[in-house]
Amino acid sequence: MEELKIPFHKPEYGEEEIREVTETIRSGWITTGPKVRDFERAFAAEIGVKHALAVNSGTAAMHVALEALGIKEGDEVITVPFTFVATSEVILYCKAKPVYVDCSPESFNILADRIEEKITARTRAILPVHFAGQACELNPIKRIAERYSLKLVEDAAHSFPTLYEGKKVGVFGDATCFSFYATKTLSTGEGGMLVTPHDEVIERARLLSLHGITRDAWKRYQNPGAWRYDVVTLGRKYNMSDIQAAIGLQQLRKSARFLERRRRIAASYLEAFRGCELLRTPACGSFESHAWHLFVIKLEIEKLSISRDEFMEKMRSAGIGTSVHFIPLSEHPYYQEKLGLKPEDFPNTSDCFKRIVSLPIYPGMSDEDAGFVAQKVLEILQSADLKRPL
Ligand SMILES: Cc1ncc(COP(=O)(O)O)c(C=O)c1O
Repeated sequence: MEELKIPFHKPEYGEEEIREVTETIRSGWITTGPKVRDFERAFAAEIGVKHALAVNSGTAAMHVALEALGIKEGDEVITVPFTFVATSEVILYCKAKPVYVDCSPESFNILADRIEEKITARTRAILPVHFAGQACELNPIKRIAERYSLKLVEDAAHSFPTLYEGKKVGVFGDATCFSFYATKTLSTGEGGMLVTPHDEVIERARLLSLHGITRDAWKRYQNPGAWRYDVVTLGRKYNMSDIQAAIGLQQLRKSARFLERRRRIAASYLEAFRGCELLRTPACGSFESHAWHLFVIKLEIEKLSISRDEFMEKMRSAGIGTSVHFIPLSEHPYYQEKLGLKPEDFPNTSDCFKRIVSLPIYPGMSDEDAGFVAQKVLEILQSADLKRPL
């Protein structure tokens, strides 16, 4: 693979993660055990929520959350097409029907005032995404959920840590699901966490996440004689390993520093792009509440002689990796053919898709790196400005 001067993402692992993983391997306990338990406790304390369940992906967290909340065949779940496919997939795993609401062209989050018109007698839950690390309008969404007795499950894959009205995302919904995928703000390579205030939800989710077995392996093997277990429901194999949790514990300790770095990069982009009429910077309700997992700009393509894809190609030629978050579900053949989604049914989502570009933003970037990215963005856009004198 070609070496870029500034790749789109680089994981931020140090000697601390290496040491903790090495200790874990030496301890002889590598699957779900004491490190997972410590990581769950530390994460729950960090968010300020009663329960946390560590699993092997954010997708797994959402799947068991929906199942634990009783979502089943014939139910409808309201969500967004402007997301990664996982958000929708988990609804389909439950044999329920995803019902889509368009996104806001400013925040890219679900349009809260368009949720109610999609509620039917079969609606059971709302599954919004806190896009890029900015919280959805949780109060209005919660009010709708309460009025119609719906469950609120949040896709917080981008949102560790995000604030809404001064409180961490994770304390609002019936279940909130985080991802620790390689590029996320806290990464365990692969991994996820479900948090919930409800005792019965965590109990059920724990059971569902490990084969429907009543006791997990760690408890089983603590007492060598205790080989017996009961399978009481159809479960999954979603448990997190102690090796992943070892990384997670160290990443959690560094999370305030990571956030500070991402904020600094976001602030420098915002400053550099101020007044530029060829792009729009992310509209954020409050700079300090944003997790800044992604920094998504919108190109004013009508004012440019190049497309979004050509812009990305030019960035790559300048040695900078960029990405697109997301290719909306309404653009994917499976969702078009099986669920009948059409790009024109979601005008904001489709319009955003044509012009969005995610710029690099991660703790390992220096101030100079951020300055170089901003400079190249401006140079490329200015040289493609249709109003530029010949
Ligand atoms: C919005 C969103 N939801 C869910 C996921 C799924 O997370 P994971 O890859 O940990 O399953 C992702 C991952 O990229 C995501 O971006």
